[in-house]
Amino acid sequence: MSHAAVAIGTIVFVIIVAAIIVCAYRRAEACAGGVASSYAVVSDQQIRHATIEKFLLEIRHDKPFRFTSLQLAGFTRNYTTRLGAGGFGTVYKGVLPNGLPVAVKVFDRSLAQRSQEEQFMAEVGTIGRTYHVNLVRLFGFCFDDVVRALVYEYMDNGALDAYLLGGQGRGVGVPALRDIAVGVARGIRYLHEECQQKIVHYDIKPGNVLLDGALTPKVADFGLARLVNRADTHVSVSCVRGTPGFAAPEMWMLSGVTEKCDVYSFGMLLLEIVGRRRNFDEAAPESQQWFPTLAWTKYETGELVDLVASSSGEEAGDAAAAPRDDEQEHEPRRDEEIVERMCKVAFWCVQQQPEARPPMGAVVKMLEGEMSVAAPVNPFQHLMATPVTANPWTTTMTGSADAVSATAISETSNEIVSL
Ligand SMILES: Nc1ncnc2c1ncn2[C@@H]1O[C@H](COP(=O)(O)OP(=O)(O)OP(=O)(O)O)[C@@H](O)[C@H]1O
Ligand SMILES: [Mg+2]
Repeated sequence: MSHAAVAIGTIVFVIIVAAIIVCAYRRAEACAGGVASSYAVVSDQQIRHATIEKFLLEIRHDKPFRFTSLQLAGFTRNYTTRLGAGGFGTVYKGVLPNGLPVAVKVFDRSLAQRSQEEQFMAEVGTIGRTYHVNLVRLFGFCFDDVVRALVYEYMDNGALDAYLLGGQGRGVGVPALRDIAVGVARGIRYLHEECQQKIVHYDIKPGNVLLDGALTPKVADFGLARLVNRADTHVSVSCVRGTPGFAAPEMWMLSGVTEKCDVYSFGMLLLEIVGRRRNFDEAAPESQQWFPTLAWTKYETGELVDLVASSSGEEAGDAAAAPRDDEQEHEPRRDEEIVERMCKVAFWCVQQQPEARPPMGAVVKMLEGEMSVAAPVNPFQHLMATPVTANPWTTTMTGSADAVSATAISETSNEIVSL
């Protein structure tokens, strides 16, 4: 073969390799910026001229707006008011040029680029297409080399845990607590059963429920959400997600996770709402540190009335200790019934077996009082059972007792789930 032929062959080879590299690079770029580049930047002028009503209507029918980092700096007055921080970044208060208050969640630069992008795409793609009165609305986003941020509707009363555990929530009566729980349940039901594609939240917790000025609860942060096709019954999670104390047991096993993990987390959240305290309180006497088992014991012994007293922010018999709403003052018996119903629903939601937990549609109906709630099976058996010393004479007896209780569980849960 002549030198010329070898040289031509080498040149052709180099050109082909270079072309492949350029194509691969362009494709990667398109993937990273694909979602962002399909949204045109909206100018301050356009927003200023839209009334708030028109703006909200446009957002509802359209996709979220895209803002520049310069605009965000203007909206937040150079990020002066910090509302809080979470696992992915910091949240600042801002105001759009038309006067609408917003919360701007700025993603942490130190986070791995990949997880930012994943979170980002998930949020823009899912919240942008979902609308429900109990879900926090995404108005827009910023995606450029300097800033990655999401712009949400601003929620006057902030996160549910801060509100209930802080002084503000002391005057909230039992019926209002139930309404908050129903609102959250409706938001999750929408994600699971009503929106175009089923959305599993994966991180339902009081910090991800925000309250507006009228105490309407809205579920926030779909960053951990994964879109799953309704036909898929299970998705496997590639890394541990969720928050200890709220994440369902199967979440820690990295497989076979369904939307029932949200039902479990909702049950734990419901107990915090009823108890108006953190489920785990290190400062409490040892027997009362873990509220879910305490509530179960009270339920079994018919003493849930104690929870009504403590959840109203007062000692039993001390009606003047906290401000109360009228309805609650005149109908203490009704408060007890509501608390019992909320606890029973919560106990069903936190069953260890995902199949034993009701779907969110049934949860909403039970909380609303439209569906009766069967007596729950103890979800904390594994935590509360007194260890039995091995005794050859009782082995057969124990075995048959287990069999009976297992049948009872599956029968009762079928009843609930099929309703
Ligand atoms: N839309 C909003 N309106 C008002 N305050 C908000 C809004 N979004 C977030 N906040 C405030 O910012 C705080 C931090 O929110 P962020 O979502 O970053 O953290 P988190 O919910 O505690 O944790 P996670 O990262 O797991 O969601 C919240 O606790 C709340 O007080
Ligand atoms: Mg959050």
